Amino acid sequence: MNKKEEFRIQNSEARRDIILRAEKLCKTFRNGALETQVLFDLDLQIERGEFVAIMGPSGCGKSTLMHILGLMLSPTAGRVVLDGQNAGQLSDSRRARLRREKIGFVFQRFNLLGTVNAYQNLAIAERVRGNKLDGQITTALEAVDMVDRARHKPGQLSIGQQQRIAIARAICHRPALLLADEPTGNLDSGNTRKILDLFTRIHNEYGLTIVMITHSPTVARAANRIIHMADGRITDAPAESAEHV
Ligand SMILES: Nc1ncnc2c1ncn2[C@@H]1O[C@H](COP(=O)(O)OP(=O)(O)OP(=O)(O)O)[C@@H](O)[C@H]1O
Ligand SMILES: [Mg+2]
Repeated sequence: MNKKEEFRIQNSEARRDIILRAEKLCKTFRNGALETQVLFDLDLQIERGEFVAIMGPSGCGKSTLMHILGLMLSPTAGRVVLDGQNAGQLSDSRRARLRREKIGFVFQRFNLLGTVNAYQNLAIAERVRGNKLDGQITTALEAVDMVDRARHKPGQLSIGQQQRIAIARAICHRPALLLADEPTGNLDSGNTRKILDLFTRIHNEYGLTIVMITHSPTVARAANRIIHMADGRITDAPAESAEHV
């Protein structure tokens, strides 16, 4: 792409306020002689303030895409531009800083530290991010309605409460973008509803951009836009799930 073209795209992105752009992403895993291509020339744009769900069959590359969008994994080809910064052109340390500052992650299995309490889970994450421990931890615990469980360890919390703590940990540094990989995958329908209501609330109140992977059409309906994937590519909605969209 020439400079003029690049400038034109950047300008139009500034007008539309694109927070995340993936361009011609390819990913091939190489294990010895075994090569597995997982993503194929994938293009994606997320506008600031969107709540997007990504759906697709198991193994189609959703988590791989999310790891690349979250700057945890490098693409084999193509690029990711986060808030105007081309991640591939940054040094490892600047890319890690961009990730720490701009992104919060939520996972299916919560990934909380089991030996420390809820407050300390957030405090340790903040220290790793290089942030001072100020009122933001309490604010984040308030946002997920877990202040009264701050001194409980994960094993002393219900499954739904553990996910709420994981969400507090993901948002307490006020990221621009929340990436969630099947955040309700381990939850029953009651807790799923609560987590979706929480996502909707933080999306509306904080203007947080959310990209959420899910297998469930019901969960996906909480989002404003649904992106479908199959075999490492973005596709149209499959016919059988069209009624859910
Ligand atoms: N490190 C790796 N080495 C080789 N292949 C890998 C590696 N990681 C993932 N894959 C392959 O990439 C493909 C996509 O995996 P990915 O985890 O992105 O799928 P997914 O869409 O998230 O599936 P699920 O819905 O089951 O979570 C799979 O076929 C998987 O075997
Ligand atoms: Mg996955």
